[in-house]
Amino acid sequence: MSFLSTCTASSLTDAAKSLIAGNLVAFPTETVYGLGADASNEKAVARIYEVKGRPTGHPLIVHISSINCLDKWARSIPDYALKLAGSFWPGPMTLILPRTCLAKDFITGCQDSVGIRVPANSVALSLLKEFENLGGLGVAAPSANRFGKVSPTSAKAVYEELDAYLSDLDCILDSGPCDVGIESTIIDCTTSMPRILRPGGLVSKVIEETIGITLSVETNQSYVNKIKVPGALDSHYSPNSKVVLTGSPQLGDGFIALESVKSPTGVVRLASPKTNTEYARCLYDALRLADKKGLKRVFVVPPTGDDISVAINDRLEKSSFSK
Ligand code: TXA
Ligand code: MG
Repeated sequence: MSFLSTCTASSLTDAAKSLIAGNLVAFPTETVYGLGADASNEKAVARIYEVKGRPTGHPLIVHISSINCLDKWARSIPDYALKLAGSFWPGPMTLILPRTCLAKDFITGCQDSVGIRVPANSVALSLLKEFENLGGLGVAAPSANRFGKVSPTSAKAVYEELDAYLSDLDCILDSGPCDVGIESTIIDCTTSMPRILRPGGLVSKVIEETIGITLSVETNQSYVNKIKVPGALDSHYSPNSKVVLTGSPQLGDGFIALESVKSPTGVVRLASPKTNTEYARCLYDALRLADKKGLKRVFVVPPTGDDISVAINDRLEKSSFSK
C-alpha cells in the first residue's frame, strides 16, 4: 500500500489509473475519507467488502464528478431531486434514486435504487475527473473504516485502520483533515416526497431555507431495514471505548464537550470544540484518541440545536448503543 501525501496532478493520474486497473484508492472527501473502487468492476468492489470486513449486500454510494454524470446511474429522477442536486452538489449530500442498468446488484445490494454523490473536495473531484477521462463511470466508496467502526477524517486514520488489509497496489491519498467530519446527508428520492434516511453534513434546515423543499425524516424502522442502510443499524460508528451519554462521568473517563463545558475532576479531556461545526469536525478523531489512550469509557456531552448537531447526535446515539 502506498501513502501519497502530495496530491499532485501526476499522483492523481496514477491513482485514477490504479482505480481503472481494479485497485483500491482511499481518498479524502469533505465529509470523511472514502475507500474507492471502480463502481463497474465487480472484483474491485468485492475487495471493498473484504478490506472493510463489511457484510456483503450492503449498498455503496457511487461518487461522480458532476451532475452531468447523474443520468448514467439514475433514471426517473424527480424534479425535486434535480433541484437538490443543482443546489447542493458538490456537497455532503447523497441522493437515493431509481437505478439504471449500470448500477449492478453488487453496488446496490440488489435494490432497485442507487446512492449517488458529488463530493466537495478538490482532490476527490480531480481524482473523479481523471478517472472519468480514462473511461471510468463512477467510484464506489464507503467510509474507509472497518465495519461498524468510526469513520476516518484523516489519511493517517485510514492508514491506522486499514493498512493491515490493503495490498501493495492500493493507495491512500492524503489531503489533510476533512472539512465537515461527519458523513453525508442521505435523502431518499425514490418516492413523491424526499425523506432523510441519514442526517449528515448538509443540514435539513439549510435545504428547506434555500430551496423551500420540506424533508421528512424516515422513522419507520422496518422501511429503513428493508432498504438496508447499514448506518441505520442500532450500533455503528463505535470506538472500542464505551461511549456514555447519560449519568455522570467517572474518574479516568475520556471527556468530550463544547469548550464552554468545564471538565469534571479526574476526566481525560479529548476535545473542546468551540462551535457545533467544530464539534462535527473533531468528534471522530476524539473517539479514536480515546482508543489510543486505552480508555475504557468516554463520556460525551452532546451538542444541541437544529444544525449539524442533529447528525452529531445521530452518530453519538449509535456509537453509544450497547452491543
Ligand atoms: O459522506 C459519505 O457519505 C461517505 C463519503 C466517503 O462519501 N460515505 C459513506 O459511505 O458514508 P458508507 O457506505 O459508509 O455509508 C453509506 C450509506 C450506507 O448506510 C448505505 O447503506 C447507504 O448509504 N446507501 C447506499 N446506497 C443506498 C441505497 N441504494 N439505498 C439506501 N441506502 C443506501
Ligand atoms: Mg460508513
